[in-house]
Amino acid sequence: MAPPRQPWWAGGVLYQAYPRSFADSNDDGIGDLVGLHGRLDYLHWLGVDGIWLNPTFPSPNRDWGYDVSDYFGVHPDLGTLEDLDALIAAAGELGIRILLDLVPAHTSDQHEWFLESRSSRESPRRPWYIWRNGADEQDGVFGGKAWTYDEPTGQYYHHLFLPQQPDLNWMQPDVRDAFDEILRFWFDRGVAGFRIDVVHELVKDPPSQSNRPEIHGVLRRWRALADACDPERLLLGETWVLDLDELASFYGQADELQLGFNFPFMFAGLEATALADVVKRTEGVLPAGSLPVWALSSHDVVRFPTRICDEDDAKVRCALLALLTLRGTSVLYYGDELGMRQVDIVPDRVLDVDGRDGARTPMHWGDGEWRNPWLPLGAELASVAEQRADSGSVLSFCREAIALRGSRDDLVAGAYTPLTSEAGVWAWRRGQGTAVAINLTDSPSDPALEGDVLLSTKGRDDPSRLEPWEGVVVALT
Ligand code: GLC
Ligand code: CA
Repeated sequence: MAPPRQPWWAGGVLYQAYPRSFADSNDDGIGDLVGLHGRLDYLHWLGVDGIWLNPTFPSPNRDWGYDVSDYFGVHPDLGTLEDLDALIAAAGELGIRILLDLVPAHTSDQHEWFLESRSSRESPRRPWYIWRNGADEQDGVFGGKAWTYDEPTGQYYHHLFLPQQPDLNWMQPDVRDAFDEILRFWFDRGVAGFRIDVVHELVKDPPSQSNRPEIHGVLRRWRALADACDPERLLLGETWVLDLDELASFYGQADELQLGFNFPFMFAGLEATALADVVKRTEGVLPAGSLPVWALSSHDVVRFPTRICDEDDAKVRCALLALLTLRGTSVLYYGDELGMRQVDIVPDRVLDVDGRDGARTPMHWGDGEWRNPWLPLGAELASVAEQRADSGSVLSFCREAIALRGSRDDLVAGAYTPLTSEAGVWAWRRGQGTAVAINLTDSPSDPALEGDVLLSTKGRDDPSRLEPWEGVVVALT
């Protein structure tokens, strides 16, 4: 038995579950918390340490939960506060932590704060949002402009995303206090931490600048709240920046986010030089003692088997092996473990304002199937039930990789050291005794490793030779 990890996410695996598409308990076609509760045994079997739920709060769903109308509740489509409490408790029994998705940069235009703010220029909530007499030309992320004119009070309000997602004014001390209360509320309910939405654009004044210095003051304040809990709570930021030094800035002096998503890694492609470069540089820039976090898919991007693996399972296994053998914390997006592909959405089924539905389709369980799912189920991929029954499936491979990661000290905590290798082969050592080599080419290669193969994406056990698109973990001798 490996010793317990400190903190729990170090060397661990997080699982991003999109609640509307994970599991449906009442056949209304929408996944829900009771459904997810019913599938905890699956996630335990898979071996994950924590689950990040996309937003669970009441919301008009103009941006599918990222337009929050009440930070203290649960969306009725997903269940009740009691369902969430029960989920947290049941997951805890299995050693699985639950993270919620905090959306602090903007609210729904239906949130009572915005309704009050909009009601008059004199409202005490007026300064909670960003109002100006004139608008600049900044574009919104989803098209259109980032400013909307509000006729009744004759001013413009700012929204980086939809007009129905007005941006909060984080220069306003009351807004900071209100969020302290939100964090405490959920920490007290046993939530293990938050994924934090659009953290790189939290503070806006003037609106058009990313990563303003004031953001870091807010993060230090949240970190103090997280550290005051026992056990300490995790802050995992959606740090959507493409410069690694900038990413590192969100870790502060190890006193801001404990983890910040690495988008340069997500977008490096399945290409040895680019991946080796981004991982090496990431390892070099993070503050001492900090952990990187790695992900290949999310609810915002095309699923990785389609985006970087040509829907070829040999490549999918190579990508999963890399994801699950790097130092730090690895995040699987639901379905990654099956090699789930992006689904084509016909025009009359499109729901998302930004065309992301194809990455958010229902999980294909293969037992107790979806009735009238809110998004189409997608084609032919083998279901969970089928893949569980097949020891040669992508799912079985992924589970083995997670188990190996958790059982070997080098893979939990060992340093990452790049190894020289032939062109197209990405190879590294973890700690002193474990090596990973992945051949990302169409030709065989010789990784020159000596030892015992602990895991191969092709079920082979020859450390001296890699087939095309084969990856191995080797116990060095
Ligand atoms: C983040 C979310 C995305 C959402 C946006 C606006 O990028 O991941 O889904 O649309 O923020 O809240
Ligand atoms: Ca349901």
